[in-house]
Amino acid sequence: MGTCNMVVASTPDAARAFLRNLDLNFSNRPPNAGATHLADNSQDMVFADNGPRWKLLRKLSNLHMLGGSESNEFKDMVVELMTSAGIFNFGDFIPSIAWMDLQGVEGKMKKLHKRWDALLTKMMEEHAETANERKGKPDFLDILMANTGNSDGEELSLVNVKALLLNLFTAGTDTSSSVIEWALAEIMKNPEILKKAHEEMDEVVGRNRRLEESDIPKLTYLQSICKETFRKHPFTPLNLPRVSIQAYPDVWENPMDFNLERFLSGKIARTESRGNDFELIPFGAGRRICAGTRMGIVLVEYILGTLVYSFDWMVPPETGELNMDEAFGLALQKAVPLSASPRPRLEPTAYVS
Ligand code: HEM
Repeated sequence: MGTCNMVVASTPDAARAFLRNLDLNFSNRPPNAGATHLADNSQDMVFADNGPRWKLLRKLSNLHMLGGSESNEFKDMVVELMTSAGIFNFGDFIPSIAWMDLQGVEGKMKKLHKRWDALLTKMMEEHAETANERKGKPDFLDILMANTGNSDGEELSLVNVKALLLNLFTAGTDTSSSVIEWALAEIMKNPEILKKAHEEMDEVVGRNRRLEESDIPKLTYLQSICKETFRKHPFTPLNLPRVSIQAYPDVWENPMDFNLERFLSGKIARTESRGNDFELIPFGAGRRICAGTRMGIVLVEYILGTLVYSFDWMVPPETGELNMDEAFGLALQKAVPLSASPRPRLEPTAYVS
């Protein structure tokens, strides 16, 4: 694309060949403007080359994933980052003209990165000041900071830590919330789906308590909604470049339809989205598979499940027909944010317990 070589693997077999058999040869992401300006010249995990530093960053974040509350404060900046990192930047594909920054993308990234850097620096300083209070019970950030200057082989710099935090804030918030928004939009477009989901939930959960994570394995219809949303609204089409193939018509009949039957009966119904079934790889596959795959699936199933279970969802009359257009970004967002009117459907006590 442009003047850069790019291989497109557009079938499950090709994806398997690249992401399993040849995984090692394709386990680095090409640098782009986002890697340079938003990730301190690839000092983060997402753009780090496969090697000891990437391994350490990945190990640390597997062990100590951040909770949700830290992420919320940063929502606006996260959205701005995801949008700017997702713009199709000409310079990434025709490097000889990158210096002109024709669309002003790099300029915006540099400014945004300054704001992030200031925020993360402040957060780390405040955290270091209170480290004593967590003696014996270090949290994720304490452990990361303890690995700056660690002596067993790989050493993290403060820049690495900040870049990793930025990865996790961005990858951990906007991705799941956008999938949930798409799922709700698809459900509201087809009230029959909402009705069936409610029937299943009433049977499994009842109407007088909250939905719990332990209910999810019994909610197969809900799971099929999540999988079909992962399939139809894939993320990161070009910018975390590896593969996105879940619209392959030989596997998925009428791929542009939102059709839950695919996951309810027939031979592909058992397809999972965790990176082993190459027909459906919304989290990628192979060694560079999404570091938050498990967390992403749990977040989407649990939050979407709770929203659907707790309310009847309707399109507000003034909205008219739901707009399902996609905006191009690092995550494929809805072009027009979903507006919805929810109506409680549970026993009143279920909302307070
Ligand atoms: C619904 C939610 C999510 C989706 C659809 C998603 C999707 C993806 C995809 C497609 C990739 C590229 C994989 C590849 O190249 O093969 C990726 C990478 C990554 N994701 Fe996610 N993600 C989600 C949630 C999360 C969460 C919750 C976190 C962490 C808190 C996270 C952290 C990362 C990181 C760090 C990488 C880069 C991994 C590496 O290069 O080693 N993601 N994600």
